[in-house]
Amino acid sequence: MSDFEIAPSLLAADFGYLMRDIKSVEGKTGFLHIDIMDGHFVDNLSIGVPVVESIRKYTDMFFDVHLMLTNPEKFIKPFADAGANMITFHIECTKDPEGLIDLIRSYGLKAGISIHPHTPIESVLPYVDKADLILVMTVVPGFGGSTYLAGSNDRISAVRKAIDEKGASTYLSVDGGINKKTIKIAYDSGARYFVAGSAVFGAEDAGKAVEELRSCVTMS
Ligand code: DX5
Ligand code: ZN
Repeated sequence: MSDFEIAPSLLAADFGYLMRDIKSVEGKTGFLHIDIMDGHFVDNLSIGVPVVESIRKYTDMFFDVHLMLTNPEKFIKPFADAGANMITFHIECTKDPEGLIDLIRSYGLKAGISIHPHTPIESVLPYVDKADLILVMTVVPGFGGSTYLAGSNDRISAVRKAIDEKGASTYLSVDGGINKKTIKIAYDSGARYFVAGSAVFGAEDAGKAVEELRSCVTMS
């Protein structure tokens, strides 16, 4: 039993063959990270509710929905109804993180809080024992295939310390630029839930890529 999880990020899949790509990782991990972008909070667009609803019909994977959008409160019910298992919103996009956590949980879902790399890490620390997951972005959100930012390790460590000090079991996630080199660095800094897009779906064999990422943590 490992003490960490890997969640392939659907953003890097071939959108023309979504279910084929999902099935290619389904046996290797239970988690699927789904990026939702609005073109406002981030400079890009991705998929929305209908796609989540459609893929839900064909897999039992845990849907970890990452909302990179303003007014996240408007989209909790639609994504809950579409089959999300966890919804993660950005701390920059709400004045009431605890209210949003309660709203997400009212649908029986897990609740995560994400933080942009340009936001002081202190702003998320009061919530480390309130949310189910804290997602420390390790790239500027909006695009796959970016490089893991220097400075991420200290931010991950700060969240790890706060979680441990409060004796919480909150997952500490990282997202962006996670590959065979950076996954161990992030693990050593305290992360335990790794989102990986291009390192998984950009590989020739996505399932094997998940296994390889896993062994980069466990073998060293
Ligand atoms: C970026 C998204 C990520 C993205 C990661 O804004 O939140 O989930 O898919 O992609 P990679 O792993 O390619 O950096
Ligand atoms: Zn993401």
